[in-house]
Amino acid sequence: MSDMQINPLSEALGAEVIGVNVGEFDEAAFDKIHDAFLEYQVLVFRNQNLPPDRQVSFARRFGELDIHVQKESALPGHEEIQILSTKKIDGKYVGSPSAGDNWHSDLSYSDLPTLCSMLYAMEIPEEGGDTEWANMYTAYETLSDEMKRQLDGLHARHTYNRFRNPRVEVPEVYKGQGKQRYADIAPPDAIHPVVRTHPETGRKALYISERFTIGIEELPEEDGQALLDELIAHQKQRDFIYRHKWDQHDLTIWDNRCLIHLACGGVPEGQIRHMHRVIVRGDKPF
Ligand code: SIN
Repeated sequence: MSDMQINPLSEALGAEVIGVNVGEFDEAAFDKIHDAFLEYQVLVFRNQNLPPDRQVSFARRFGELDIHVQKESALPGHEEIQILSTKKIDGKYVGSPSAGDNWHSDLSYSDLPTLCSMLYAMEIPEEGGDTEWANMYTAYETLSDEMKRQLDGLHARHTYNRFRNPRVEVPEVYKGQGKQRYADIAPPDAIHPVVRTHPETGRKALYISERFTIGIEELPEEDGQALLDELIAHQKQRDFIYRHKWDQHDLTIWDNRCLIHLACGGVPEGQIRHMHRVIVRGDKPF
């Protein structure tokens, strides 16, 4: 384990961890990885051999696992693993083809949103399929003092239901199932601070996103939407972003408490992007 190296990937965030096999390290090595996770927010492990059980047990080192609301995309026999995939069998997608297609922080629509997510690349297309993460510490820190004062004490409403969010589209694959699909699986709305404090680093991060945030509780509707428009434009600046071009068998892990992320899409019809995702439940944002 003395060979472990941690190399930053961009000015914005992210580091590559070299010289480890996930699941084979002792407590001291895990502590080093955990420190790097808090510092760099996204870690990339290359060329990992990760059968489902090994991915699940690595994720459990970060906390209790959560089960995604979209249960139809779970890996059979492993409800903690969600398949994100463009693959079809008999004309039906084997997993979720559209997860992450708008900027978001995982499960911010639930009372106890995701602490970290782990995404493992089983099959990678020749074109497209990148992932971007944006640094929400920097997004908060670069707001004007006046804006920081305005946001102090404000709370936002988050929903999984795309039909209630005019900033996002309903993917073709779900349109046929109508509004009932989201009504059936969406948990009750969650209300979280617009600026949250990271429970481990103590730093403040902007905590809204175009995919899940639909209003500001303390403001009239029009004012809340105008504020959200401004914050959403601000949080997606190129300087805050690291873009990952996947190789097969890359594993990434990211901290949802201080990042938003986007599945960039652009996979040509007929090419396969097939990923396994595991999510670790976090604390109530404060
Ligand atoms: C996600 O939103 O968690 C998935 C991101 C991706 O598939 O690139």
